[in-house]
Amino acid sequence: PGPFRLGIAGLGTVGTGVIRLLDEHADLLEARAGRRIEVVAVSARDRSRDRGIDLDRWTWCANPAELAGLAGLDAVVEVVGGTDGPALDLAQAALKAGRPVVTANKAMIAAHGFALAETAEANGAAILFEAAVCAGTPILQTLREGMVGNRVDRIEGILNGTSNYILSAMERSGEDFAETLGEAQRLGYAEADPALDVDGGDAAHKLAILAALAFGLRPDFAGVEVEGIRDIRAADILQAERLGYSIRLVAMADLERQEGAPARLLQRVRPCLLPADHPLADIDGPTNAVLAQGDYAGPILIQGAGAGSESTASAIVADIVALARGEARPAFAVPSAGLVPAERADSGAR
Ligand code: HSE
Repeated sequence: PGPFRLGIAGLGTVGTGVIRLLDEHADLLEARAGRRIEVVAVSARDRSRDRGIDLDRWTWCANPAELAGLAGLDAVVEVVGGTDGPALDLAQAALKAGRPVVTANKAMIAAHGFALAETAEANGAAILFEAAVCAGTPILQTLREGMVGNRVDRIEGILNGTSNYILSAMERSGEDFAETLGEAQRLGYAEADPALDVDGGDAAHKLAILAALAFGLRPDFAGVEVEGIRDIRAADILQAERLGYSIRLVAMADLERQEGAPARLLQRVRPCLLPADHPLADIDGPTNAVLAQGDYAGPILIQGAGAGSESTASAIVADIVALARGEARPAFAVPSAGLVPAERADSGAR
């Protein structure tokens, strides 16, 4: 087959990371995908910003939505970010045109992923978002493919690298919250708005996506109970340590299946005291980890980098290769596949 041709919207740290990976591993990826993978068009807010890459190599689109209809593309990579706005416009337009989309945008997928999957299905396209949850740590693929034979009724994880970096740094140094947040921002783990990290919203986006995938539901971001780590002090961490616990921001989803009634879904993100022998207790730094309970596979723990340009690029390229090989699977169980109905465990209280 001929080359697999990409348009990339967004040339921030993730977009440039994808370009670097595609350049550096061009031959290896060609061997693995069975065809050359080429970037042919790009779009970003500011053409003149110095990114250390030569933009003259590609067609320039001033507006990301142009990539949806640009002739000759096989897929669009959306790394613009934002729940709505240009990212969503681009994803919808591309899918309506039957063009597959790869995205790292957890906010958009948590809010609109199911509608986008329906649009993809109706138009013979696909939307893939491995990078949206735990960056390059392949948790979605593990749930969707590796654990496909299991019922998974419980997931717990550390889903925000910035918060975990802060909590484990506070543990080590005894410093307070504000100083360590500054470090996480300098290291490039934090979101543009770090409130999303430390107040739990980013972990909640990822949890809603994980729960939907693992349990066969629509993502229910609004149903996640969220509490962040802003109020945790070095003294709390010390006190917990004396009692034999560590404090981690844990995201948990449970599906209670009930005979003859809709299943009940409980999703929470909150700081937890974890006993020293808990598999998530010593997850350190910007690492993410997910523990999924399969009824046949048993507990599966997967951990790795959860943030950063290179790790995120790794997941995006995995999705691109799946598309280039013609192997992309539906992301969520789309309506034609049938979904488990669920009620929020607290319905009525919200
Ligand atoms: N800000 C996120 C984190 C990056 O710290 O985990 C990936 O979502």
